[in-house]
Amino acid sequence: MIERRDILIVDDDRQVREVLHQIFLGANYKCLLANDGQEGLEVFRASRPPLTVTDLKMPVMGGYELLQHVRQADPDAAVIVLTGAADVKTAIASLKLGAYDFIMKPVNVDELLIAAERAFERRQLLIERRQYHELLERRVVEATHDLEQAYRQLQDTYRTTLEALGSALDTRDVGTESHSRRVHGYALATAREYGVPEKEMTDLAHGVLLHDIGKIGIPDAILLKPGPLTPEEWQIMRRHPEIGKQLVEKIPFLRGALPIVYAHHEKWDGTGYPRGLKGEEIPLGARIFMVVDAFDAITFDRPYSKAQSFDAAKAEIKRCAGKHFDPAVVTAFFQVSEALLAEIRRKSVEP
Ligand SMILES: [Fe+2]
Repeated sequence: MIERRDILIVDDDRQVREVLHQIFLGANYKCLLANDGQEGLEVFRASRPPLTVTDLKMPVMGGYELLQHVRQADPDAAVIVLTGAADVKTAIASLKLGAYDFIMKPVNVDELLIAAERAFERRQLLIERRQYHELLERRVVEATHDLEQAYRQLQDTYRTTLEALGSALDTRDVGTESHSRRVHGYALATAREYGVPEKEMTDLAHGVLLHDIGKIGIPDAILLKPGPLTPEEWQIMRRHPEIGKQLVEKIPFLRGALPIVYAHHEKWDGTGYPRGLKGEEIPLGARIFMVVDAFDAITFDRPYSKAQSFDAAKAEIKRCAGKHFDPAVVTAFFQVSEALLAEIRRKSVEP
């Protein structure tokens, strides 16, 4: 952008004003003239010239005060101060206030023109630098915004994918409708009582939701068989944690679910499968899952068993603590209020 070459000349001495006027006209500047600081300020406010050349000592309003007003009105305004020998201190003070330069009277024409040219250049540089900074700041804001949006979309995709997988599993497996929602709620409540850090809750939730994902690999004839399974069929059915592990470990955003998927049929006393892990060898998420899954199986109607009371379920869980279940997890589960358990249960059957 080519800048206007307007200069505001402020001096109470008409002769000086005229001389300055002629000098600047001769160098192709366009000039505005004012008698004193007050008039200068009015002209400045009306025309916003990029450069103001002002005397210091003037009636009504001096150059020092004018400088303050001008810089306040426009921080990019360039100001050059003209000073007599007696006012050098004020001239130096004016530099601290943002004046670009000061020139001693009587004015030397070359010196004045060089100072004016430098003032225009410096002003232009400062403006460009500021605009560049603003541009950078805008870019950073835009890039951050784009990144946040992409991240949100990714999270949404993860969530919907997981939910789709979860409901696909629900529809394939008999009697698990709304089961995963309840077990998810019970597991998180128990994990909080146990003291599991919040940042680990997402993995826990994914694990609970996908624990039986390996059943995708079990033939319908076995999975949906109405009667009891033969020993050979059980052998195939018991492969689902291993199949689930192979599925989940290939998908980076599901990898956190792996401990529960792989170990959700292990038992505290080592009698579970597929690896026969014992005690704390079993990942904590799987130990929590075991307890809340059993609780839900007992307290909710299933095809071959009628729902029992919370008390009956708790008595059964207590009986199995130390055998099937981690006693510390059982204690944490018993600390979850029955009101919360009932609430989770009620919400799971809402449409
Ligand atoms: Fe399972």
